[in-house]
Amino acid sequence: MADFDALASMYDDDFTHTYIGWKQRRVVWNYLIKHLEPNLDILELNGGTGEDALFLANKGHKVLTTDRSTEMLKMSCQKLSKSKTKHPVRLKKLDLNHPTLSDTKATFDLVFSNFGGLNCIDKMALQRLHAFVSDRLKPGGALIFVIMPKDTLLEKWYRMWKGQKQAIKARQSEEGTTVSVEGDQVQTYFYNPPEIAEIFKSFSVKQHKITGLIPSYFEQSIQKYKVLFFPIFLLEAILIKTKIFSAWGDHFLIHLEKE
Ligand SMILES: C[S@@+](CC[C@H](N)C(=O)[O-])C[C@H]1O[C@@H](n2cnc3c(N)ncnc32)[C@H](O)[C@@H]1O
Repeated sequence: MADFDALASMYDDDFTHTYIGWKQRRVVWNYLIKHLEPNLDILELNGGTGEDALFLANKGHKVLTTDRSTEMLKMSCQKLSKSKTKHPVRLKKLDLNHPTLSDTKATFDLVFSNFGGLNCIDKMALQRLHAFVSDRLKPGGALIFVIMPKDTLLEKWYRMWKGQKQAIKARQSEEGTTVSVEGDQVQTYFYNPPEIAEIFKSFSVKQHKITGLIPSYFEQSIQKYKVLFFPIFLLEAILIKTKIFSAWGDHFLIHLEKE
C-alpha cells in the first residue's frame, strides 16, 4: 500500500474543503489564472484527488494528472468523470522517486505540483526529477511547485510553545522527518526556495511566495477563535505579495522557467 492510500477517501474533507485548504488553494489558483497562457499541455505531479486537474481542465488546458497512490487516482477519476471539460483529463500512475511516462514523446508547457507532493521525496529524487522535467518540457516551458518550507513561522512558534524543539530541528534535516498521515508514518523532507532553485538549476526563478501562513492542523482553532487569527490573516495578506519571507509560510509557491 502506497503512502496516502489510506487517506484518499478523507483527503477532501480533511484538507481540500477546510477553510485553510480552500484559502491556500485560492492563492495558487489566482496565481495560475494570472500567469498561464490559454490551451496549455500540463503534466500534474502528485495530483491527489483531482481538484487542481479539474480546475485546470475547466480553464481549457489539456491535463495529464499523475500520482503514486492508486486510491488517490481512483478518487480523482471519480471526481473527473462527473464533469464535462473541453479536453478530458488523462490519469496515470507516476512515482516521483522514479518518474517515467510510457509515451516517450509527450512534452508539456507546464509541470505542476501542488501542496507538498515534492516534500515526499529526498534531494536525490528531486535531482532525478529535475532531469525528467527538463526532458519533458517544451521550449519556454515552466514549473510551478507548491512546497512546505523548513522555516514555517507558526509551526516554529507552536513547537516552541509545546516545548518540542527537536521537531523544529528535525524539519531542517536532509534526512527528513516522519509525519503521521492517518496513522501511517510518512517520511517528509522540507525545502526552502533557495534549495529548490539550486536543485532545478537549469531553470530561472520567476517568482516565489507563500500560499498561506497557517498550517492545516490549526483548522479547528480557526473555526473556534477566528477573531484571534485576524492579525495573522493580515500578515498573511501582506506576505503573499512579497517574495522575501517565502520560507515562513505553511507552503510556498515557486515558479521556474526554462532558460
Ligand atoms: C498532500 S497531497 C497533495 C495532493 C494534491 N496535489 C492537492 O493539491 O491536494 C500529496 C500527494 O502526493 C502524492 N505522493 C506522495 N508521494 C508520492 C510519490 N513518491 N510519487 C507520486 N506521488 C506521491 C500522494 O499520493 C498525495 O496524493
